[in-house]
Amino acid sequence: MKDKQHKYLWWQEGIIYQIYPRSYQDSDGDGVGDLQGIIKRLDHIQSLGITAIWISPIFSSPMADFGYDISDYCDIHPLFGTMEDFDELLEAVHDRGMKLILDLVPNHTSSEHPWFKESRSSKDNPKRDWYIWQDAKEDGSEPNNWLAMFGGSAWEWDEKTQQYYYHAFLKEQPDLNWRNPEVQKVMMDVMRFWLDKGVDGFRVDVMWHMIKDDQLRDNPINPDYKPHQATYEKLIPAYSTDQPEVHDIVHMMREVLDSYDERMMIGEIYLPIHKLMTYYGTDQNGAHLPFNFLLLSTDWDATKIASNINQYEGALPDGGWPNWVLGNHDQPRITSRVGMEQARVAAMLLLTLRGTPTIYYGDEIGMRDVPIPENEVQDPQGLNMPGLNLSRDPQRTPMQWDSSENAGFSNNKPWLRLPDDYRRVNVKAQLDDKYSTYTLYRRLIKLRQEEPALHIGDYRPVEAKAPLLAYLRYTSDQRFLVLLNLSHKPCHFAPEHFSFEGTIEIDTLPEREGGRVSGHVSLSGDEGMIIRLDQS
Ligand code: GLC
Ligand code: MG
Repeated sequence: MKDKQHKYLWWQEGIIYQIYPRSYQDSDGDGVGDLQGIIKRLDHIQSLGITAIWISPIFSSPMADFGYDISDYCDIHPLFGTMEDFDELLEAVHDRGMKLILDLVPNHTSSEHPWFKESRSSKDNPKRDWYIWQDAKEDGSEPNNWLAMFGGSAWEWDEKTQQYYYHAFLKEQPDLNWRNPEVQKVMMDVMRFWLDKGVDGFRVDVMWHMIKDDQLRDNPINPDYKPHQATYEKLIPAYSTDQPEVHDIVHMMREVLDSYDERMMIGEIYLPIHKLMTYYGTDQNGAHLPFNFLLLSTDWDATKIASNINQYEGALPDGGWPNWVLGNHDQPRITSRVGMEQARVAAMLLLTLRGTPTIYYGDEIGMRDVPIPENEVQDPQGLNMPGLNLSRDPQRTPMQWDSSENAGFSNNKPWLRLPDDYRRVNVKAQLDDKYSTYTLYRRLIKLRQEEPALHIGDYRPVEAKAPLLAYLRYTSDQRFLVLLNLSHKPCHFAPEHFSFEGTIEIDTLPEREGGRVSGHVSLSGDEGMIIRLDQS
């Protein structure tokens, strides 16, 4: 049982909402979302009951990777607005009692960043060592076999200075050399710049990539590679990612945050559970929340999901706070992975598990991946590896606000097209509909935010047969039983060694709410319920 005196922090008790700024709300009619647009939509976020907003990059950038290629870490891209707009947004978010988390992209800059321009200008430039430069092998080939995440070799030849530079992503995104103390210092200064303004934390981009093997050894071949996978998957990134020294860097960032009050850091990390856990650091000196992407990668199967939840819970270090993610700008939306009906069950799962949930914008109305015709594809991951269906555009389409032209997103043609059904599937249409996904989200959030058992309580699995997932969330004076049918067919919960009695509090079939249950329950296909158990 959790210590009653323990003070929980906002990022533990609360709920995070991710905004992809190009697609949230356009205010100036250029078809691209912007900061004033977000300000205009804060009512929506607040009435949903969100604690903190994380905004994907809004900084100066040539937009080769839509803002994840930064050319000035301390300025706002004019497409999104000005620094004044940012200050206004931060104040407006704080005025509403919410928090603001920015995206920090420390692994690489844009090739247009002045640092890189200097670095590539000559071999003896003082910033040469800020990036990863290497001679060619004797035959002129790349220094090693490392591959770029977005296709092809990770090494780019520089004709002028006759060396290769390393880029884990696009060639327009050269990797910084984090072994260089000046690089470390300048990025800590970037953090302080935003923290001084009052930003509440950072989501740190590709945290596990930040340091590479000091000998730059070849990556091993992946024996399980399948041709439909991205070329990057041909190798196992054993030497290009997740190096032991990365934890010193994460710790350094943590120290900057800890010199302020209640600021936090989330790490974007795609690694297996036992490796993910190392990013909490020794004695909690690492990331506050290493992003847990288990729900993005596990098959939608009750046995597998239950097993993963329990492995994750069991692997957490002492004091390590859990977190859960259903979607982000890099992954197909939950509705497109498990279907519209199961996405509602998934929402109940996300918002009743132990640990901070992150909601991806649009999931609260059940937005679906939008098919983007080949000649409209914008995402470099899609363009560079055509035919593999890897474009991330479908999950980055404009927020569907209402049934007006362009869905209330813009008064101009949006940068990515809307789905044909946006006149039916939008915020306005769902607001007052008791049965809508929006209403389900809002009620799940409200219940979670109100009930300590749900936001800070303990978790215990309850034995159930697939397709049913069952668990308890509880404090000393309150218990909730969560039953989720992860299939389309009816199923029955009739535990042998667990007796219970209670009232259905929230159900994906609202008709059942308020109903009494005891001993056993039958569930419809795609049904999930939260039962408030009687206190004996
Ligand atoms: C992260 C971002 C992704 C970006 C990549 C390179 O994975 O989430 O969108 O393309 O880093 O910066
Ligand atoms: Mg705009």
